Amino acid sequence: MSQVPKVKFFNGQEMPVLGLGTWQANDDEMRQAVQVALECGYRHFDTATLYLNEAAIGDVLGKWISEGKVAREELFITTKLPMAGGRAEDVLKFLTLSLKKLQLSYVDLYLVHFPAGLKGKDEDDLRPVGPDGNSVMDMDTDLERLWKAMEAQVDAGRAKSIGISNFNSEQIDRIMKSCRIQPANHQVEIHAFHQQKELRAFCHKHNITVCAYGPLGAPYKDEWTKEQPPLQHPVVTSMAARLGKTPAQILLRHLIQLGIVVIPKSSNPDRLRQNLQVFDFKLSDGDMRELDSLDRGRDGKIFIFKNFYLGIENHPEFPFHIPF
Ligand code: A2P
Repeated sequence: MSQVPKVKFFNGQEMPVLGLGTWQANDDEMRQAVQVALECGYRHFDTATLYLNEAAIGDVLGKWISEGKVAREELFITTKLPMAGGRAEDVLKFLTLSLKKLQLSYVDLYLVHFPAGLKGKDEDDLRPVGPDGNSVMDMDTDLERLWKAMEAQVDAGRAKSIGISNFNSEQIDRIMKSCRIQPANHQVEIHAFHQQKELRAFCHKHNITVCAYGPLGAPYKDEWTKEQPPLQHPVVTSMAARLGKTPAQILLRHLIQLGIVVIPKSSNPDRLRQNLQVFDFKLSDGDMRELDSLDRGRDGKIFIFKNFYLGIENHPEFPFHIPF
């Protein structure tokens, strides 16, 4: 079974540098994927209220823990506060629901999923849409107040660490200036075409570890129709052929060598196993430079959220109006 190295948070807690991403898998796929992942050595799982799969993941984790096949302390579980819960008074409610579904008494990391809040009627209304088709936004999102409620979850033992996702540097600055417990981790889109060099340097300065979502360049999207996605880029495929690895292994190894935590999603047992086999080789400085040069900055970004949440760019906390 492969041993996955860990990164250390400011508070000493450790996070495996590779975990299973779980967005966009149905419940049956999810149960099977988590089962196979646990069997082949994954101990880090990333989910979110918005992915609607916490209960399926919890089914498998609960079984493994109760049968003594894995100890809770060996697992690293992340989940996220949905945008429709982006208010201080909603944090406890949503984290309690997540814990119940995951069959856990605490998560290792609880993230604010996105800085712009929405106004859902209840927990089943996670993507509220108005009659005009636009998202129903909470224009009064107060990130500093929200963060205090996140800190309270650490105090209460419901989250070992707290963090953020999809924030920009200005928003992080505000949290850093007002917080009592700093964000341990920032989860953002990072892959070969969108390497987030400035944001990573900014997080590094603040001792915030970085986790890449979409680390393979999310090939399930059709955004790359005009040209090859990262997995098919000739630099990646030729390096993979030369080193006897797969393109996915090259892309993941590149990010891991940059000190980034990766959470590739796969519900396919072979690919899921393959993605974990990235600790038996090292990319040379030359190979790293070649992969670094694939970065297209903001042009390489896939997830702009405007497609999923119509009108969200008009929210005062929409994070992508500034360069990073
Ligand atoms: P599948 O679940 O069928 O394996 P990302 O984590 O960057 O968002 O990418 C997830 C997508 O990449 C999913 O469509 C997943 O499909 C696919 N994928 C995951 N691992 C691999 C791999 N090793 N090679 C090719 N595609 C992969």
